[in-house]
Amino acid sequence: MRVLELFSGLGGWRIALRDRGRVSAAYDIHEAANATYALNHGEVPKARELATVPLAELAAHRADTWLMSPPCQPFCRMGNHQGLEDRRSGAFLHLMEIFRQAPPDHLVLENVAGFLGSDAHALLSERIRAHGLHQLDLQACSSHFGLPNQRPRVFIVASRKPLKALPPPQPQPQPIAAFLDAVEEEALYLRAPQEIRHHQGLDLVEAGDRRSACFIGGYGRRFVGSGSFLKTERGVRRFSPTEVARLLGLPEGFQFPEGLPLEARYRLLGNGLSIPVAAWALDHL
Ligand SMILES: C[S@@+](CC[C@H](N)C(=O)[O-])C[C@H]1O[C@@H](n2cnc3c(N)ncnc32)[C@H](O)[C@@H]1O
Repeated sequence: MRVLELFSGLGGWRIALRDRGRVSAAYDIHEAANATYALNHGEVPKARELATVPLAELAAHRADTWLMSPPCQPFCRMGNHQGLEDRRSGAFLHLMEIFRQAPPDHLVLENVAGFLGSDAHALLSERIRAHGLHQLDLQACSSHFGLPNQRPRVFIVASRKPLKALPPPQPQPQPIAAFLDAVEEEALYLRAPQEIRHHQGLDLVEAGDRRSACFIGGYGRRFVGSGSFLKTERGVRRFSPTEVARLLGLPEGFQFPEGLPLEARYRLLGNGLSIPVAAWALDHL
């Protein structure tokens, strides 16, 4: 596969791709995402607004596969549900116009469950059908892949070749303890009174548990509904970005640029893919 990695973030698709193919070009508008991508993958994504990239530019990469994770806020439980009406869907709409004119041979799109049945889903399915590609709509959660973390996602897989759904492997999730840093950072503990007052509504887990809640981009700033907090003998703390990265299945050597603030790290991770789940979606091609 020769891949266009669209909305590339920290490069989850590239990690999941492994030796199935190579990334011809990655695109993302966000500076911190691109710096993180460059540090880990040795190539700098094109810092472009995808709503304005011309067909000729994308075609010049001679890619046969699009792997994409467009912004999920228009389809999120906590978002505004405006779908294609949301201004953040502009780039997706533009890519659908490019698809109409020059479709790839294969495509995998990842998003939240609310994407299924949305106007964007209908538009993508219409484009896929119009070009005679096969389509599979998959749903999976990282907790079905041995990870003690909830991350329910949908994957729209399209290909020129016939597709058949593969069952997720379903191993029992490991305990959270296996994903924790060897040395805890004191600063992760909730100490300030304004933080402690949130204890009540928090999703609290312990090292022996085999589940944690989905981490969202706002984990560093928000409390309730943003992900799990770890209860230890010393109190209640956030998971570190490295621990969240492990819970997403990112490789052990995954790094952030020095000096990138904690909140920016959580934001990138909260937008990211669960790697084993994305790899399973790619297995279908
Ligand atoms: C859901 S995240 C993708 C995460 C990615 N799959 C990963 O593994 O980290 C969406 C990404 O799209 C980027 N993005 C959003 N709108 C964009 C646009 N109009 N043009 C280019 N990039 C955009 C954001 O900066 C963000 O990194």
